[in-house]
Amino acid sequence: MGTISLSELISRIDEIPIFPQTVSNILKLVEDPRTNIRDIENEILKDQGFTTKVLKLANSAYFGVSRQIKTVSQATTLLGFQAIRSMVLASSVGKVLSAELLGYALEREALWKQSQICAITARVIAKKVKFPQPDQAYTAGLLKDIGKIILDHYLNEQFQKIMDQINEGNKAFLEIEEETLGFNHCQVGAKIAEKWKLPEDLVEAIAYHHQPDKALLNLKLVAITHIADGLVMMMGLHIGSDGLAYNFSDSAMELLNLDETILSEIISEVADLISDDTMYIA
Ligand SMILES: [Fe+2]
Repeated sequence: MGTISLSELISRIDEIPIFPQTVSNILKLVEDPRTNIRDIENEILKDQGFTTKVLKLANSAYFGVSRQIKTVSQATTLLGFQAIRSMVLASSVGKVLSAELLGYALEREALWKQSQICAITARVIAKKVKFPQPDQAYTAGLLKDIGKIILDHYLNEQFQKIMDQINEGNKAFLEIEEETLGFNHCQVGAKIAEKWKLPEDLVEAIAYHHQPDKALLNLKLVAITHIADGLVMMMGLHIGSDGLAYNFSDSAMELLNLDETILSEIISEVADLISDDTMYIA
């Protein structure tokens, strides 16, 4: 298999429809300030899967409501538009990726689960440091490694070579990717996020989650995504790829005013949350 440039890879991704119509509609609606709960509800109700997930998520322990949430409009009010967007993205990306059952499906499943845990971790960090948009942190945590999934999907053979090298030695993940492909999973992920018309700072968080010092737009969001990624690895939930070479950025730690005590509080909060199965919304 020959090498492929980043732009060639991205143009190939056009060939498969990533999102069904309902998803694009919901994504457009949540961006539009004129949208009301009823508009979102109507769109969600068109999809049986989304309807179930929204209700399940609203009734999960994370949101800690004592009464039962029975309607999509109640659930939407409780969760907020950003969380709806995260859920829709999460479940659609998950669906696209599980569509093709290659031999690596299990690993991909692990990556997907790890992304969801990272999303939860990012949201816990965001709340801890009083970052104003915890749901945006959730989405960033969820999508930060989307590039890996795309690489696995489109360049399976080369991607497996990369994984083998990573398991062998202690070279940094990004370095091996760049040597083998000429680009890394962060760049692929950022291009995809641009294609999906995600907000610029989310694109940035994906682009620099391994190099938070390069961030220019939303330094805190990038720092949160970076720390969440490292914490998930520390918790032993990582699939073992970039594990060895992971370093927390000092400036990210400083920017968020984090220390070891706060990190261990965050880890135990996350551990509580993920013991609740309903958090796996995809
Ligand atoms: Fe990554």
